[in-house]
Amino acid sequence: MEKQFFDLEYFDLKLDTDHIGRHFVYASEVTSTNNFLLDERKKYSQNGTVLLAEFQSEGKGRKQRQWHSQPNANLTFSILLTDPALLSANPNIINLATSLAVAVSIENLYQLRTELKWPNDVLIDSKKVAGILLESVSRGKRIERLVIGIGINVNQTAFQSKFNIEPTSIRNETGQKVDRERLLAEFLNCFEEQLSYVKRSPSNILKSWKLKCRMIGERITITDDDFVKHGIFDDIDNNGFLLLKTDGKDEVMKFGDVSLR
Ligand code: BTN
Repeated sequence: MEKQFFDLEYFDLKLDTDHIGRHFVYASEVTSTNNFLLDERKKYSQNGTVLLAEFQSEGKGRKQRQWHSQPNANLTFSILLTDPALLSANPNIINLATSLAVAVSIENLYQLRTELKWPNDVLIDSKKVAGILLESVSRGKRIERLVIGIGINVNQTAFQSKFNIEPTSIRNETGQKVDRERLLAEFLNCFEEQLSYVKRSPSNILKSWKLKCRMIGERITITDDDFVKHGIFDDIDNNGFLLLKTDGKDEVMKFGDVSLR
């Protein structure tokens, strides 16, 4: 029989952070871990609070898509940020830092080569292994709570329904069952390190992120609902936006799904 539950003691042993994940909430079922931490009535406010759920009845993806994840097999969790220094940082850089931390933690543990797809997908062999959804609660222009939701396909081996990028899991790529506790701890360790760069050197994040993005320099199509634009993926600017070269000029793209042409 395969182990189904999440071993909190083992996870804690591997966690090496000062703040992130030090307040840890484990739930068997919620609607969405993002919704839960966004809701001020739940009274969670500690910076770095992590909520991990085995099942989400309304798991959300980017652009109103759904996020399906087999219960007890994967990692579906959210991190609450309330540190004013992080809330005043550029959320796009936090977005890039999160995908970078997912990629680095997978590479550290499983010797797999990961790739990053703008704005925040993590791929292995051109298939999607993880997705990220950043959401916030603001008062006026000020962000009060920033919630980073992360779904990593860990031990799921079969995927149903339609996807715009073919999914995979770490188990499918390594052929071995993966320790979710170790991976989550490794990710949170890497994430806390990346957050320190968000505060003191965002250019480091941009530099490392770009090294893992193989689409830069390629001819791409960017789509956002009815909007479709072709061009060359020239670069990522200092705000984390994509620079699309069309007719020799760079155009700043703030949203969209990127695909190779
Ligand atoms: C995407 O690639 O479209 C983003 C997927 C984000 C999924 C995670 S799972 C944990 C958190 N809770 C949610 O409802 N969504 C995010």
